[in-house]
Amino acid sequence: MAALPRIAVLASGRGSNLQAILDAIAGGRLDAEVAGVFGDRPDAMALARVAPELAWSRDARGYADRAAFDAEIADAVAASRPDWIVLAGYMRILGDVFLSRFRGRVLNIHPSLLPAHRGLRTHARAIAAGDAEHGASVHFVVPELDAGAVIAQARVPVLPGDTAESLAARVLELEHPLLVGVLRLAVAGRIAERGATVELDGHPLFTPLQLGSTLDPRVLP
Ligand code: GRF
Repeated sequence: MAALPRIAVLASGRGSNLQAILDAIAGGRLDAEVAGVFGDRPDAMALARVAPELAWSRDARGYADRAAFDAEIADAVAASRPDWIVLAGYMRILGDVFLSRFRGRVLNIHPSLLPAHRGLRTHARAIAAGDAEHGASVHFVVPELDAGAVIAQARVPVLPGDTAESLAARVLELEHPLLVGVLRLAVAGRIAERGATVELDGHPLFTPLQLGSTLDPRVLP
C-alpha cells in the first residue's frame, strides 16, 4: 500500500481547524495522516489534540529574532517529512527562512474574503466596513502577509446585529469544511502554485473555488 500523504499543521491556539482535519481523516474523508503539530506557544490547546509524540512546540519569545525561531520550527517540520504544511490559526508571520524550504506546499486559512481584510481582527473590520458578505479563504503562503494565491473561499452574509463574535462563529463553521475540501484536492495532487496563480488539474484557476456553490460538490463537500 502506498504511504499516505503527510500533513504538518502549525497552530498557535484553539486548534478547531486541526480538529476538523483529524476528524476528516478518522472519518475516511481525507486520505492523509497528520505528520506533526508545531506551535510557537507551548500552552496552545491545538497541541493537546494529538498524541504527545506528534506535538512540537517552543516558546517563540525565547528566541533572538523571527529568523532564529523560523529556522528551528522549519527543521522540526522538515523532520516530519510533510507533503503539505497547513497554517491553521498560526499567529506568526513566516518569512523566507521558512518559506524558501517549503514554498508551494504551505497553505493558510484566513478568516476573510481575500484580498479584503488581510491581517488581524477581520470580523470586526468587515462589520465596520459595512460589508454585505464575509467569509474565509485558503491560500498558498508567500512572504507577504495573507497575499498568496487564493484556492478556495467560503462566504457568509453579514447579518444585521452581527458582532465580531457572532460573525466569527458563523465563518468558523465553514472554515472546517473549506479547509478539509482544499486538503482533499492537495493530497490528491490536484492543486499547484504557479507564480501568483493556482492551477487546478493543470489549468489556471481564474477565480477561487467556492464552498457549496459553483464548486464541484464531490471535491469540496
Ligand atoms: C481561524 O479563524 C483561522 O481562520 C484563523 O485563526 C483561527 C484559528 O482557529 N487563521 P482554530 O485555532 O483553528 O480554532
